[in-house]
Amino acid sequence: MARPPQVTRTVPALRRALAPFRKGGGKVALVPTMGALHAGHLALVSEARRRARRVVVSIFVNPTQFAPTEDFASYPRDFAADLKVLGEAKADLVWAPSARVMYPEGFATRLAPEGAALAGLEDKFRPHFFGGVATVVAKLFLQTQADFALFGEKDYQQLRVVTQMAKDLDLALKVVGVKTVREKDGLALSSRNAYLSPAERSVAPLLYRVLRASAARIKQNEPIAPVLDEGRAEIERSGFALDYLDARHALTLQPVAARKDGPIRLLVAAKIGKTRLIDNLGV
Ligand code: PAJ
Repeated sequence: MARPPQVTRTVPALRRALAPFRKGGGKVALVPTMGALHAGHLALVSEARRRARRVVVSIFVNPTQFAPTEDFASYPRDFAADLKVLGEAKADLVWAPSARVMYPEGFATRLAPEGAALAGLEDKFRPHFFGGVATVVAKLFLQTQADFALFGEKDYQQLRVVTQMAKDLDLALKVVGVKTVREKDGLALSSRNAYLSPAERSVAPLLYRVLRASAARIKQNEPIAPVLDEGRAEIERSGFALDYLDARHALTLQPVAARKDGPIRLLVAAKIGKTRLIDNLGV
């Protein structure tokens, strides 16, 4: 059986555990997660292992990125199972602070990302989200002093926001994006897929099919607006409540009217039953 990784729960313990890694000049890569790990997270761990001698995985369900109406309390948590898969994936260290360690009594500082964080996509439906993400991710970067941090393209706007934040704050760390890992039928892996009923699960892959079909048509130089309108109609016909299906500049996330304004990224968010799914694809 694989050896489970070391677990640290306080900042001094984390620093002590990392000191010997660093002494020899070895690089450290960080994979930030909220646990309930699946093959998407493990793809980040493999990429981290390619980049650095030591891999730290943080597991912290960050309360400040959930609105009061969202699923913080019911978010899936299985620490024992996470440790087991991280042992098999050869992660070296798990950083698992409590909310009290991350946000001690009197905590009073919050980052307010702009630019891609105000693109009118996730931020429109989850106004708390990127402030909470940027704040916790900045803390994770500083706590671990990592050389690399791995993020999934699955959460594309988050990847853009975190990349910009690291640049704007002159953090000496490289943010690396990793391709979305999907089920055979195209559904992007997500901890929230566990909420889907069998009927919802069977329609869920439609989002990716619409992204693929729309990207193919835009590549053939069809005008973007009608392609997206048809995609939106198809998603709604299939029983989703659509939040957005949009074409944006892949780096700034600003709206694009034509293919020449690209590189283009298509981004979608929709609810099926009570579960909100997001996905995206490059054109
Ligand atoms: P979480 O949803 O646990 O995701 C952790 C990381 O795994 C993110 O970078 C996410 O994009 C990546 N990921 C999730 N599903 C993936 C998939 N199917 N393929 C590839 N990568 C995937 O995102 C968060 O946690 C939090 O917001 C966090 C960054 C940890 C800050 O709290």
